[in-house]
Amino acid sequence: MTSSASTKPFLRALAGETLTPPPFWLMRQAGRYLPEYRQTRAQAGSFLDLCYNPDLAVEVTLQPLRRYGFDAAILFSDILVVPDGLGQDVSFREGEGPVLTPIRSAMDLDRLDLSGLHRRLDPVYRTVSGLSTAIPPTTALIGFSGAPWTVATYMIEGGGSKDFSQAKRLMWGQPELFARLMDLLVEATGQYLIRQIDAGAEAIQIFDTWAGALPETEFRRWVIEPTRRLVERIRAERPGIPVIGFPRGAGILYETYVRETRVSGVSLDSSVPLDWAAATLQPHCTVQGNLDPILLVAGGEALDAGIDRVLRTLGKGPFIFNLGHGIIPPTPPENVARLAERVKSFKG
Ligand code: CP3
Repeated sequence: MTSSASTKPFLRALAGETLTPPPFWLMRQAGRYLPEYRQTRAQAGSFLDLCYNPDLAVEVTLQPLRRYGFDAAILFSDILVVPDGLGQDVSFREGEGPVLTPIRSAMDLDRLDLSGLHRRLDPVYRTVSGLSTAIPPTTALIGFSGAPWTVATYMIEGGGSKDFSQAKRLMWGQPELFARLMDLLVEATGQYLIRQIDAGAEAIQIFDTWAGALPETEFRRWVIEPTRRLVERIRAERPGIPVIGFPRGAGILYETYVRETRVSGVSLDSSVPLDWAAATLQPHCTVQGNLDPILLVAGGEALDAGIDRVLRTLGKGPFIFNLGHGIIPPTPPENVARLAERVKSFKG
């Protein structure tokens, strides 16, 4: 079935239909704000053990669907399984976030190996195929990856970073080495996404969390160009699968990103003005977003007003309701229930 003929609201919205109420899901909808997630997570051992355990990864993907009836399930995994699959040392430390052995030289890069990728990531593909039969019939299944630039920042910095100084020094100081790393990531990510589609993913989201850290010239070269190549490859090899891009922090470059990558949908961070997005982006593609995730912690009338503003402005065109970034751990689950009720009862 082509996506435009789908009965799944999420896929219909991505095919360009305006739906009232709009379909909705939330980034990081499976996570530590849910007690049942924390329990399964403790049972799994480490975070990566959870990502590589198909039964438990299916379970945590389903948990938020049972509570809130989202229109889409997103594969439970992480963007950093790709460097792990390439042979880089990746671990997640409690309260510290990801830690990687940094890639800073040609020797470091030469140790990475594309040939072991699918063997290492096979449990992820099994999670996708388990989900494709476990989710409700009107729920869509989203596969995902990090965008090459964002994944490269973690690979080069060796973890999270405030200013990306190591990644930028490599980008400007050793441009040939940086370009080789980016080429490897475009190839690995393309293969990885195609495998997720073959296992049952019905749409793809590409997370470029740190897109906004690059000046315009580098944004075009290292955010737009790699994403354009990924979209082009998916269109050519698996036609009909929609791709959502999330160039977080891109500002007015969101417009260039949409035009040049040719994504089917674009996920907006909370700083993107709603009227501007409706006038400038929505005529070209489906928009997704962009409630501030902290409003979901604050709750109450401020939350209701924020939800209504997003619905009223973006709900007049092709739209998927979401946050501007992921749910954070202190979010009260009852606030998510309040949001779900409010979005589902929107009448236009
Ligand atoms: O529900 C979903 O959205 C699906 C699962 C998902 C996770 N990570 C699970 C996760 C998705 C889509 C991601 C993407 C991801 N991972 C991004 C891009 C989106 C974004 O949030 O900006 C990035 C930058 C990462 C890298 C990453 N993973 C970091 C920096 C951290 C540590 C910070 C944190 O929140 O702990 C993670 C860990 C992580 N990924 C957790 C989850 C549920 C928490 C780990 C735990 O349970 O201990």
